[in-house]
Amino acid sequence: MKKEFLLLSAALLLCAGCSSSITYKDASAPVEKRVEDLLSRMTREEKILQASQYICGENDNVNNIIDNQTDYPAEIGSLIYFGQSVEYANHIQKNAVENTRLGIPVLLGFDVIHGYRTIFPIPLAQGCSWNPEMVRQCCSIAATEAYSSGLRWTFSPMIDIARDPRWGRVMEGYGEDPYATSVFCRAAVEGYQGGSLADEGTIAACLKHYVGYGASEAGRDYVPTDISDQTLRDTYFPPYKAGVEAGAATVMSSFNTLNGTPTSGSRWLLTDVLRGEWGFDGFVVSDWEAVMQLIYQGVAKDKAEAGKIALEAGVDMDMVDWIYRDNLDSLIRSNAVKEKTLDEAVRRILTLKFRLGLFDKPYTEERPEAERFLLPEYRETARAAAGESMVLLKNEGGILPLSCDTRVAVVGPFADSPENMNGNWTAKGRSSDAVSILSGVRKEFSNIVKTRRAEVVICCIGQPQGATGENCSYSTIDLPEDQEKLVIDSKKAGKKVVVLLTNGRPLALSRIEPYADAILETWHLGSEAGNAICDVLCGKTNPSGKLCITFPYTSGQIPIYYNRRPRSRNYDMGVYQDITIDPLYEFGHGLSYSSFNYSEISLAPVEGGKFEAKVTVTNDSKVDGSEAVLWFVSDPVCRISRPVKELKFFEKKMIPAGESREFVFEIDPSVDLAGIDAAGKPVLEKGDFIISCGPRSATLSY
Ligand code: BGC
Repeated sequence: MKKEFLLLSAALLLCAGCSSSITYKDASAPVEKRVEDLLSRMTREEKILQASQYICGENDNVNNIIDNQTDYPAEIGSLIYFGQSVEYANHIQKNAVENTRLGIPVLLGFDVIHGYRTIFPIPLAQGCSWNPEMVRQCCSIAATEAYSSGLRWTFSPMIDIARDPRWGRVMEGYGEDPYATSVFCRAAVEGYQGGSLADEGTIAACLKHYVGYGASEAGRDYVPTDISDQTLRDTYFPPYKAGVEAGAATVMSSFNTLNGTPTSGSRWLLTDVLRGEWGFDGFVVSDWEAVMQLIYQGVAKDKAEAGKIALEAGVDMDMVDWIYRDNLDSLIRSNAVKEKTLDEAVRRILTLKFRLGLFDKPYTEERPEAERFLLPEYRETARAAAGESMVLLKNEGGILPLSCDTRVAVVGPFADSPENMNGNWTAKGRSSDAVSILSGVRKEFSNIVKTRRAEVVICCIGQPQGATGENCSYSTIDLPEDQEKLVIDSKKAGKKVVVLLTNGRPLALSRIEPYADAILETWHLGSEAGNAICDVLCGKTNPSGKLCITFPYTSGQIPIYYNRRPRSRNYDMGVYQDITIDPLYEFGHGLSYSSFNYSEISLAPVEGGKFEAKVTVTNDSKVDGSEAVLWFVSDPVCRISRPVKELKFFEKKMIPAGESREFVFEIDPSVDLAGIDAAGKPVLEKGDFIISCGPRSATLSY
């Protein structure tokens, strides 16, 4: 294999010096010219295959079971590549480049969601870090590892706003807030795509699942969603618009029927809004078999009609179901579909291949895995990211951090469970690479004992990683009874109880909360989970995460989120008769070992019609710590009933013990105060606005 690569490189070197007389092969020609030249040479069959995606290798996604596949036309436009052998990836490319008439390279894609081999915290956890730079770094490392295996495309970031924790895919996104999700989306796109898609180590991003998939009814997957135009505009669209502005190369159309029209067949969504309004110039891929599912969704009578609807709506590439391959030719021949509609889709796909530099450098250097994966600096980033993603929900009497000679018992189903540290969608991550909680704790704590002798019982509870992800809906978000019993019994036995939660969704903790002295939400933290958790337990890391999603008091409160619109009767009206209407832990909640004091906010006009809101935060403890300041805007009177509070800016800073830092929110009224109406027009009306920030600034009467 090594030899083969050397030969390929030599061939490339020879080519590098010469500019081809065939325009599309000429690396110095502008991309548009190359695309048009190539398109003009393609047969319809070749075009249709460019617009088709199939898979290569064995899919380990239990929801998309398909036999190990190595049989696909060499002219295929894209493959979901399940292997991690770079040699095989080069073999696929060689077949496409050397054994086909036009030599068009294949676009190899994969679900690289929170790491490729080095696994980072699940996106929901990353959202709790309030550190977009960290998200960018994680995505950049993921891109480097994936690229080294021959991949050039990831189906990430997932930017569906999700407000129902029973929906399993809540773990894949950044929570309930459109602004925060937009910021993390931008960071992820920048991390994957880097400065230029042509650079080594960068891969194309894919914004998914467009759109409204996260508004799942009753927490179930694949069901229709109903979202008003107003809420689509002010809540579900913004992260996609932000991703388009950040230059995301592709978008994935979702599974759901939205307001009566399946999104994968909606020209309004895929063309009018995405391209017309936002100027998206990449290509759209359907979700897995989403074109065929137009039949099940009741808008297409057969596969041919499904293909016509999807292509004309704006789905450029058909994932896996072969609908385009089997139907587009006859549709075009019978004039049911225009050839130029297909040309347009292929033009977009080829444009990305050229932008990625695939035509000029289709092969990937074949290096041993040890040089490509889990490098010490990758693990270091994973540990730091995990440290920032945990949320300290409760810390009664400052029980945490523990001194390292405390007699601790580490119990519960996730105490020594490397197979649950990574979380769902772990690409090529392995449990054997992940540090379990116990392995981490053993490195610092010298007195690990059985429960009877312990001063502190560390209860490691939650949900296995297979409980969240695609098709992982639950009817409630309760913990299993035996786990609750573990916490309650430990407390009743006179122990101090520290609860460590391993999970991918908010859980209902109100039954155990009174029995826990401390609760640390650790999510699924990835390869360095155990080490990072131990860092927090022993105080090497001061927790700084804050929730990017509300933790309901019970499942019955769902959906519950901070940025709801005001209700018509306030005070004690419209409340539950049996439980509180307040969540257990609100959006933005998260404790620290430091204590932070916020000054009054000052507001002053600055240049360009803008304002500056300033707050000084003082760390009046003896421990250095980081604080994320979340800034909210409210518009109490507007012709649109706007959410009671809307996050508009956030920033995290390290504040050494005893010191203060100033946080500044520069307010551009047209961006930060304006709302948007149901037609997509900005609405900025005269009147008062309320600017707030503070440790519990999202708190409001629910
Ligand atoms: C999921 C997508 C994923 C695709 C390819 C689908 O089932 O909904 O998120 O990217 O499979 O694996």
